[in-house]
Amino acid sequence: MKKISIIGAGRVGETTALIIAQQGLCQEVALLDVREGAAEGAALDIMQAAVYFGFDVEVNGSSDPALIAGSDLVIVTAGSPRKPGMSRSDMLKINTTIIDSIVDQVLEHTPDALLLIVSNPVDALTWHAWKRTGWEKGRVFGQAGVLDGARMAYFIARETGVSFKDIQAMVIGGHGDTMVPLLSFSSVYGVNAAALLDPAASARIIEHTRNGGAEVLTLRKNSSAYNAPAAAICTMVDAIFHDRKRVLSCVSVLEGEYRQSDISVGVPVVLGRNGIEQVIELPLNETEWMDFQRSIDSVRAYLEPA
Ligand code: 2OP
Repeated sequence: MKKISIIGAGRVGETTALIIAQQGLCQEVALLDVREGAAEGAALDIMQAAVYFGFDVEVNGSSDPALIAGSDLVIVTAGSPRKPGMSRSDMLKINTTIIDSIVDQVLEHTPDALLLIVSNPVDALTWHAWKRTGWEKGRVFGQAGVLDGARMAYFIARETGVSFKDIQAMVIGGHGDTMVPLLSFSSVYGVNAAALLDPAASARIIEHTRNGGAEVLTLRKNSSAYNAPAAAICTMVDAIFHDRKRVLSCVSVLEGEYRQSDISVGVPVVLGRNGIEQVIELPLNETEWMDFQRSIDSVRAYLEPA
């Protein structure tokens, strides 16, 4: 695998391109943006950092979709950004149109690629994108749980005072207010987080994780999070390009798993060079099932025709 295309040279797209280049995750990055000059400028800026960072990944930018030809992976970050007071469902209408045209470009210029959706509302857009491609389900997936899990790990670290390296965190469900941070499938130095943390700390972690994106946006006012999202995307890229078979929570199309179908939502999967190679079904307890079902219902509400 050699080439990654990133559609959307906004903050998430540009930061992702820089990290991919710095980490040498592939040989070529194509950055595409409909705004004339935006992707070319970002690519030039990144390439001029190569001298000091010492990377030899080639980053090119363009507004011409032909640049994405021959990609192994296409990452879609384009879309209307979430503004204060705007719900993810407000974004659905605008971003579905954008995603449809991007999928058509992918089908025309690089029909053998994997497709990673980042734009919000990510669960619904992943579903739309998958339907439009007609591909097998493992080739189209979304980023959400890797970011939400990072936020949860950060909040667990803050509560316990131990290194992130010794924390594992699992978040499933839709990437929104109903996401399901699972303390019982998270651990601190191997100890089950649900058993280790007192109820007040547990409640704070769950609340902060669910509000993770909104908190950054509220503080910044003019920008959603982009550093942690880019780090999350690059974690998925690393798993795919190195065929690591990592277990990560990703937005996956479900066809019977978790007794669900006709939906895509965050669940743990095995991620490797073929994309999603396996969906892992966690043995949820009754409360966790109810929370997961509620989250699925909220994602499903987006998918129903208006
Ligand atoms: C976030 O959670 C906007 O989905 C993005 O920060």
